[in-house]
Amino acid sequence: PGPGWTTRADVVIVGSGIAGLTTALRLREHVEKVLVVTKDVLHAGSTQWAQGGIAAALGPEDTPEQHEVDTLVAGAGACDRDAVRALVNEGPEAVRELIALGTRFDHTAEGELSLTREGGHRRDRIAHAGGDATGAEIQRALIAAVQAAPDIEVIQHALAVDLLLGEDAEGVVGIAGLTLHVIGEGERDGVGAVHCRAVVLASGGLGQVFSQTTNPAVATGDGMALALRAGATLRDLEFVQFHPTVMYLGPDSRGQQPLISEAVRGEGAVVVDGLPEEGGTRLMQGVHPLADLAPRDVVAKTIMKRMLETGRPHMWLDARHLGAEFWQRRFPTILATARSHGIDPVTQLIPVAPACHYASGGVRTDLHGRTDLPGLYATGEVACSGVHGANRLASNSLLEGLVFSRRIAEVLPGELLPWREPAEDRRTAGLVSGDVRRELQETMSSRVGVLRSEPGLTEAATLLDKLAGRASDLVDQDAWETTNLVTIAAALADAAALREETRGSHWREDFPERDDVHWAGHFDVRMSDGVT
Ligand code: SIN
Repeated sequence: PGPGWTTRADVVIVGSGIAGLTTALRLREHVEKVLVVTKDVLHAGSTQWAQGGIAAALGPEDTPEQHEVDTLVAGAGACDRDAVRALVNEGPEAVRELIALGTRFDHTAEGELSLTREGGHRRDRIAHAGGDATGAEIQRALIAAVQAAPDIEVIQHALAVDLLLGEDAEGVVGIAGLTLHVIGEGERDGVGAVHCRAVVLASGGLGQVFSQTTNPAVATGDGMALALRAGATLRDLEFVQFHPTVMYLGPDSRGQQPLISEAVRGEGAVVVDGLPEEGGTRLMQGVHPLADLAPRDVVAKTIMKRMLETGRPHMWLDARHLGAEFWQRRFPTILATARSHGIDPVTQLIPVAPACHYASGGVRTDLHGRTDLPGLYATGEVACSGVHGANRLASNSLLEGLVFSRRIAEVLPGELLPWREPAEDRRTAGLVSGDVRRELQETMSSRVGVLRSEPGLTEAATLLDKLAGRASDLVDQDAWETTNLVTIAAALADAAALREETRGSHWREDFPERDDVHWAGHFDVRMSDGVT
């Protein structure tokens, strides 16, 4: 369908979490018109749900160098060292700026920033807010700042559909605009187009590709899929992080599941295979020197292995000894959520199982968020800046969104493309029916999830191919999203099949060792030539 309405902005930012809003706030003084488009309401993305916090070397004992080492160890040999250095060196100042903007982090009785620890960190370096509501507090502060900036325009309920490309006088192809599907925003209802000179993707991850995820419903890989369709490169898609301690709500529970933050283990909770007073044992003791605070792929794999050995659909987290007062003060959100599902963590074990949590890969960028398409930038979970490698270190994601959005804002105003006419809308493939979504998610969880092996990956590729052929009669949000989910799921399954080794969050049962001799580098995905 052609656009029913059009508008103009110099820069369009897709997404309204920490990455999108930081970019908007930092660009507004240097670019005439900044437009933020977001698929739901401003706070509906993953930032709002972040519990544990934001990592930065802010403590007296800590240094960026130590943060760098922990990030590289977790990334299992697949990080970009320069990107990691940018992250850890610029992190402390970026967090201080967030505080100056009005974010209220928790403080100790002595008035110092309260810093906790999570898996893979050898120092206390996680700043948190509201106990376990860090993301919500950051999101609140950023939204308040954006709403106080009348020069930033926002369109909510606007799904980014496709990038529009155009040629300049020399024939160089670059960003010319973006098509949107808007639901009920005044005159801008239905499919429309924004004519622009740059697009910054800050649209988050792909958790809804799997049946169970900590991600909200909006995380359908839209930014990755539209970048791929426009010819940009995706990298490291096979490195999907499964959080080890997600509350298990029963065999039929689908979609977003309650996260039990790693910070609960940071404060002393332990993973067990049954009530200790009835003979249950601690799973992580003797498995890794950091025990329950080992990098999360190690904890997730250990839990999965025990689930398979015992035939149980979950293990448990024992945090009873933290006591009622501590639970209420430090983890009020998790406490309330667990109780709302009938579990009281003060007196009971919490049933937990791994679930999809974070896409370490995404749209490939350089150190300033540039993709390989002129005028297209990416930041936050949608991007692959190289900081996470094969496994993201806990609480580095909010930090990545913050640091790399600042970096984009440093360079983008000086390299804005001239206005160019968009060529025809590039979409050639039809839309996939929303009816296939559940089968797609089950295929991914059962065959491309925590445990992967060749037969399952081959089956997944065949099934996904079949699902991609189920055309939609409707042109609606469900169909756009399902099309994006199928596109990204297929690319992810292909990359997982190609990587014949176990590394970080990518666990191949048929190739159980990390292979530093034959490892083929990163797998890049491009629309024209598939996974290479
Ligand atoms: C958590 O709170 O466990 C999640 C932190 C993260 O994913 O970085």
